[in-house]
Amino acid sequence: MSFRIQPTAPARPNRCQLFGPGSNTKLFEKMAASAADVINLDLEDSVAPSDKDSARQNVIDAISNVDWGTKTLSVRINGLDTPYWYKDVVDLLENAGDRLDQIMIPKVGCAADVYAVDALVTAIEAARGRKKKISFEVIIESAAGIAHVEEIAASSPRLQAMSLGAADFAASMGMQTTGIGGTQANYYMLHEGANYWSDPWHWAQAAIVAACRTHGVLPVDGPFGDFSDDDGYRAQARRSATLGMVGKWAIHPKQIALANEVFTPSEEAVSEAREILAAMEEAKANGEGATVYKGRLVDIASIKQAEVIVRQSEMIAG
Ligand code: COA
Ligand code: MG
Repeated sequence: MSFRIQPTAPARPNRCQLFGPGSNTKLFEKMAASAADVINLDLEDSVAPSDKDSARQNVIDAISNVDWGTKTLSVRINGLDTPYWYKDVVDLLENAGDRLDQIMIPKVGCAADVYAVDALVTAIEAARGRKKKISFEVIIESAAGIAHVEEIAASSPRLQAMSLGAADFAASMGMQTTGIGGTQANYYMLHEGANYWSDPWHWAQAAIVAACRTHGVLPVDGPFGDFSDDDGYRAQARRSATLGMVGKWAIHPKQIALANEVFTPSEEAVSEAREILAAMEEAKANGEGATVYKGRLVDIASIKQAEVIVRQSEMIAG
């Protein structure tokens, strides 16, 4: 480990973030009753320009009037390139109740974007005597966002989570696809006449995970657009979990159970991790730093790997 110890990310479940348009009030109670860990009420791209003001008011009302239980309650504001965002922040911070936990800032391109929102939020919190400090989450969904991902991850002590937004990211990068996440038909290797699909989102995800883990932020996979494709969602989510992400968005309620399934360590994985820890305890008692578990090497690094799984499982259970 470097002299600088890697900070831990917030210890809260973030397996599924369920989105719903701020303009669609009939979804709010259903969202609150769902099994998602995080609720994202949207003021941005699922709300038409003509509905921006009414959606903002709907969301402010719902923050106080709906019972959100123990969920993390987040509102996605409009991007800093729009005429809407300042009013989203001012009206939310001035008028929404203390139940609001988090603001999601979309299309972040550099640390200064987060700084600007932080300055505004900090001033309003002080002016209004708000007791609970609002946390932030951001979406990396542009070429600038991924190019500056590390400074963004380090941008504010308010920052708790960072998501990859596949659709806007693909557009900003000039990628030839209209798919939102998942396998892309033209992204394949050809070997002896057969196609082997590769993962075009992999490097962006890995860059996000590295930036997040360096700065104690939760890395999250964004939307999977084809909500009729459960297996496709599962495959994408499993890749994300394997890379170190802690959760994934749901843009339809049927995706919630899939995310919870993938991002909750399985009983088998947890018991194997516990067995590895026990094997290493025994090795340590014998004065050894490495041993054999089920025919394979385990050593001191294996303890840390196993602890990731056990800690995640305990945090979700607790
Ligand atoms: N949260 C909670 N419940 C939802 C929901 C959501 N996001 N989306 C749909 N539902 C409910 C519907 O109201 C319906 O409930 P009912 O059985 O009581 O009638 C049920 O789930 C089935 O919905 P379905 O008919 O399959 O979907 P739809 O055609 O009503 O809506 C979408 C499809 C995609 C428009 C809708 O799911 C949606 O708005 N998703 C969120 C979009 C969003 O926020 N995007 C921004 C982030 S990318
Ligand atoms: Mg987007």
